[in-house]
Amino acid sequence: MSTVVARTRDELTVAREKLTGTVAVVMTMGALHSGHAELVRRARQRADSVIVTIFLNPLQFGPNEDLAKYPRTLEADLELCDREGVDLVFTPSPDVIYPGGDPGVKISAGALGAKLEGASRPGHFDGVLTVVAKMLHLTRPQVAFFGQKDAQQLLLIRRMSQDLDFGCEIVAVPTVRETDGLALSSRNRYLTELDRQTALALSRALRAAEAVRRQGPSAVRRAARDVLVAEPLVLVDYLVLVDPASLDDVPEWFQGEAVLLVAAKVGTTRLIDNLPMVVG
Ligand code: PAJ
Repeated sequence: MSTVVARTRDELTVAREKLTGTVAVVMTMGALHSGHAELVRRARQRADSVIVTIFLNPLQFGPNEDLAKYPRTLEADLELCDREGVDLVFTPSPDVIYPGGDPGVKISAGALGAKLEGASRPGHFDGVLTVVAKMLHLTRPQVAFFGQKDAQQLLLIRRMSQDLDFGCEIVAVPTVRETDGLALSSRNRYLTELDRQTALALSRALRAAEAVRRQGPSAVRRAARDVLVAEPLVLVDYLVLVDPASLDDVPEWFQGEAVLLVAAKVGTTRLIDNLPMVVG
């Protein structure tokens, strides 16, 4: 079997009609790595046909962000999709997705979209949800797979699907890591050798926190903070232990499921990581 590649809406329509049974979609911005491959594998286990979208969505990048220098590796991406048994890749150009330029009507991520990543990247999640909504309409899957790596994005996509009755099941896939703990990310390609060593502090902080999770929220926060302050080259944007549904800080007496989220700049690269854990 070899992967069919569609670049236009018409090509997508023709190829989509040929897919049979349950259809799953994995959405990406390209520069594919083993994290993306894991999403595809889960999708294959679950569905009869798998669509991967590769689209570097300009709408979710702020004016001072890395859109222009974001890695583009389409040849290698298509090879990975072929190797992983993807049935159909949809890789449109921006004018196929946004024929009139910036769309006047967008999906609003609301208050949840203004927190954490949204506070540092205004409008980011409106851009994410708008393109995810469009890709769901265009590819018409029964099920869509997203990574826990982008916890706030995953939460917002779930909420959009429920709140706006998309009728598409959203499945979360645990974060894939390098053996040394670094969460895989397309942005890791920007890291120098020194940055990469420095960046390990993020996953180290999460693990140190998890080791004391039974002692409660204060101990969890302290353990993570101690690891990060010991690494002055990590510039922390936020480090929070929050309720996974509301993203509000959990109180000191809290027991139950929480998620520890971190965002930091290492060199010129902004990295995020998180670890869900039962606290208390
Ligand atoms: P991108 O960063 O390419 O990620 C595509 C999908 O892969 C997302 O669901 C993301 O959470 C998942 N992913 C990335 N790194 C992962 C890792 N180490 N382990 C597991 N999953 C991982 O996220 C986006 O693109 C875009 O915002 C998108 C949803 C495609 C909308 O443009």
